[in-house]
Amino acid sequence: MPVVNSWNEWDTLREVVVGSATGACFEPTEPGNRPQVRGPGDLPFPTGPKSDEAVHRADEQLEGLAAVLAGQGVTVRRPEPYDFSRSLRTPGFEVENQYCAVCPRDVMITLGNEILEATMSRRARYFEYEPYRKLVYGYWEADQRVGWTVAPKPTMADSMYRQDFWEWPLEERHARMHDSEFCVTQDEVVFDAADMSRFGRDILVQESMTTNRAGIRWLKRTLEPKGFRVHPVHFPLDYFPSHIDCTFVPLRPGLILTNPDRPIRDAERRMFTENDWKLVDAPEPVLTNDDMPPYCQSSKWLSMNVLSVSPDTVICEEQEKPLQDLMYSLGFEVLTVPFRDVFEYGGSLHCATWDIRRDGTREDYFPSLSSRPAV
Ligand code: ARG
Repeated sequence: MPVVNSWNEWDTLREVVVGSATGACFEPTEPGNRPQVRGPGDLPFPTGPKSDEAVHRADEQLEGLAAVLAGQGVTVRRPEPYDFSRSLRTPGFEVENQYCAVCPRDVMITLGNEILEATMSRRARYFEYEPYRKLVYGYWEADQRVGWTVAPKPTMADSMYRQDFWEWPLEERHARMHDSEFCVTQDEVVFDAADMSRFGRDILVQESMTTNRAGIRWLKRTLEPKGFRVHPVHFPLDYFPSHIDCTFVPLRPGLILTNPDRPIRDAERRMFTENDWKLVDAPEPVLTNDDMPPYCQSSKWLSMNVLSVSPDTVICEEQEKPLQDLMYSLGFEVLTVPFRDVFEYGGSLHCATWDIRRDGTREDYFPSLSSRPAV
């Protein structure tokens, strides 16, 4: 098997990259992001490096995940240390500091035997591929069958963003939702890797605050000649969509964990129902949105951000009992790790990982698409 080989989100995991909080900074306010402190009052969002204590707590939980994976026989790799406190100045923008290497999922994706680096959508994440480059070179040098593609870098200049997006009243948000207009305009190719979900031949891409239609066109044109089918998907009740892995989470062939607050667009559900896939809603998370850590910008649905170790074993957050019970009832073996101290770095278990190698090859899980004329 090639050293890089991963066609879906569930086949037996052999090698994975687990993120690191070392060197992490608070995400800066910028046209593509308006971070806010949770809770009462209007505290300004901090800038610069996270406290040593917060980094230490998150790193311990990331180590814990790495240990559980190693215990399952998975080879675990980690990013290179990187100084995120450095400011950036490019021809298109300036930003006071960068972010972190906790969520490789957002930047890097394995599509079969190929590694793809996303364009990214936020300034503070422009160079986020760098902590992973040494690993990429390692895989690329080790095996001639390994492909490596880097998506075009957008300018991230002011013109790439729709800054008034953040002020839209709810009715306008609702109206614009149907045109999928968010904080990034449609002029440049923009996508984060975590807006994709892999199902063998078929790849879903969520149109979001972090992936625009030009980004999806680029993915289509780049991947379809290689034998993939790229499907744009939408979750019209999510007003701030970003990254698909707290919304629509495949667990094994025929089974998807869905978010009851964010159903998929009706017409897009057909592809699943027509091919006998079952969509099962995640239970209400244990933490409410108000209980999430103060600097966490994600929703309570981080609860459903599980990592599959195989088609019958998933890793869940330790305190998410209702979700664990659902997994048991669906026939899964459940491993748990504490992970809440990682939440303020942008994600949970799936986000904080990037699978390099899983068993299996490219399969067609949607046979009805082959018999349908292409549109
Ligand atoms: N926007 C998602 C939510 O709040 C969080 C997604 C996290 N995923 C990731 N790959 N960083 O529900």
